[in-house]
Amino acid sequence: MSKKYKVYKSFISKEDCDLLNEWVLENKIKFSEGRMKGMRLTSRYSFDIEFPKKAYEIRDEIIKKLNFTNYSFPPYKDGMVSSFAAPGDTCYLHKDPVWETGTTTIHCNILLSDSEGGEPLIENDKLDLKKGDLWMYPVSEVKHGADLVKGEIPRTLWIFGFCFHPFNSPLN
Ligand SMILES: [Fe+2]
Repeated sequence: MSKKYKVYKSFISKEDCDLLNEWVLENKIKFSEGRMKGMRLTSRYSFDIEFPKKAYEIRDEIIKKLNFTNYSFPPYKDGMVSSFAAPGDTCYLHKDPVWETGTTTIHCNILLSDSEGGEPLIENDKLDLKKGDLWMYPVSEVKHGADLVKGEIPRTLWIFGFCFHPFNSPLN
């Protein structure tokens, strides 16, 4: 049976988090509403944006460190999404689409800010994460959402999407 999620603590450095977080804060004006019944902005529907080089370097690192092979990218810009959730945001439980028949959509998300609350909810689990942590989960298979973002600091994250056939899924 495949796992519901895997967490890799401190996957990226504080400096890399800060760089990506600042990019999100500067570019969120080009994002659109997340359609998740909350107060989040997402690059999911934006294609006229240029992601920072660092994001591609981190994606290469994920692919290398987690031994990804035979994957394709979901149809977001370069398979990535950046997300901005202001305090007060929540995300209702949902599943993401399957983008290619026979595959599972897997997201590797990295938390970029020291926000309070906003914990990822994956089926019945609530993940306790810190800035720089990566969590990988099959978004087309498990119900997921996020708890209420509290405090003052927006919750920003970077999403690296992949489509995997079951035979080589990194969650096997
Ligand atoms: Fe989702």
